Amino acid sequence: MEERKGFGSNFGFLMAAVGSAVGLGNIWGFPNKMGACGGFTFLIIYLILAVCCGFIVMVGELAIGRKTGKGAVAAYKALSKKFSWMGWMGILSAFFILFFYCALGGYCIKYVVLNVGDLFGAGFGASAIAAASADAASASLGDAVFGAFMSSTTEAIIYGLIFVVLTMLIVLGGVGGGIEKVCSVGMPALFGILLICIVRACTLPGAVDGLKYMFIPGWAVANGVIEEAPDFLSVLSTAGGQMFFSLSLGMGAMITYGSYLDRKQNLEKNALIIVIMDTLVALMAGLCVIPGRFALDPTGELGGPKLLFITMQNVFEKMPMGALFGLLFYLLVVFAAISSSISLLEVIVAHFVDKAREAGKGDKR
Ligand code: PFF
Repeated sequence: MEERKGFGSNFGFLMAAVGSAVGLGNIWGFPNKMGACGGFTFLIIYLILAVCCGFIVMVGELAIGRKTGKGAVAAYKALSKKFSWMGWMGILSAFFILFFYCALGGYCIKYVVLNVGDLFGAGFGASAIAAASADAASASLGDAVFGAFMSSTTEAIIYGLIFVVLTMLIVLGGVGGGIEKVCSVGMPALFGILLICIVRACTLPGAVDGLKYMFIPGWAVANGVIEEAPDFLSVLSTAGGQMFFSLSLGMGAMITYGSYLDRKQNLEKNALIIVIMDTLVALMAGLCVIPGRFALDPTGELGGPKLLFITMQNVFEKMPMGALFGLLFYLLVVFAAISSSISLLEVIVAHFVDKAREAGKGDKR
C-alpha cells in the first residue's frame, strides 16, 4: 500500500499544530477570562494546569497518533476495540465546533471586507454601512454595523460558506500540500501582525488600564469592571476548560496531527513548543485586544463575539489609521480561525481516508 502522506518538515508540523491550538479561543477567550478571573492568579493556575495536565495530555495524544499512524477512531481502536467510541466522540465534537467556527470565521472575513472598504472610503466600508443603517443615530458604529450584518441572513450565510469552502479546499490539498503550506505562511504572518497590533494598542492613551485589568489581581472588581471576584473553584474550572479548548485537546485533533508526525522527531519537545506558543499567543492577543478596549471603548463588551465584532470595530473607528489596523487585525483573526477549522475538519477527513486506505482505494480525500 502507498505510504500515508504526512508533513514535509517538522516546522510544517509545528505550524499546523500551533495553528490548531491558536484560534478564536485565544483571541477572545483567554484575555477576557484572565481579566475576569483575577489576572495573574488566573494566569498562574492556567500555567500550572497547562504544564501538569495540558502538556501531558498533549504528549499522550501526539504519541497515540504517531504510534498508530491513524486518525482518532482507528487510533483508539488500535489501542483496544473497546475504545473506538472515544475516537467517535472526537469526531462528533470536531463536527459541532466546526459549526461555530464556520459561522464566526465567515463574520471575520466580512470584517476584513468592511475594513478594506473603510480604507478606500468605499460604500461597502463599515462607516458607510453604519451611516446608512436604521439605528445610525442611536447605536455605536460597531453596533450598527453588526446589526446590519446580522439582519441580512443571506449575507451571513454567504460569508460562512466562503469560510467553509476555504477550509475544504485547504484540507482537500492534503496534509503536506494544503494544511502545512497554509500554516507555514499563515502562522508567522499572524505572529508578525499581532506584534504590530500590540504596539499600536499599547501606545494608546489609557491603554494601561487594560494591562491592569489583565494582570493585577483584584483590579477588575475594585474598579467595577466585574461585580465580584469568582471563587477558587470557578477560576479552576474556567482555567481548565479554557486550557483544554485552547490546546485543541480531547477532540482528536492532536491525535490526527500526531499520526502524520515523523518518527524521528522528539515528541516531548514538539508538545512543549505547542503549549508555550499557544499560551504566548493568548497573552499577546490580550495585549492587543484588551488595552484597545479600555483606551477607546471603555464601556464595550469584554468577551464573546461582541468583543471581536462590536467593541473592536469601535476601537478601530476611533483609532488614527484605524481601517488599516482593523484590516490587519481581522486578517489575523481569519488566519487563527482557519488554521483551527482545518484541524477540526482533518479529524473527520482522516477517518474517511483511513477507511479508504483499508478498502485499498489509497489516500482518497
Ligand atoms: N484551539 C482552538 C481555539 O483555541 O480556538 C479551538 C479548537 C481547535 C478546539 C481544534 C479543538 C480542536 F480540535
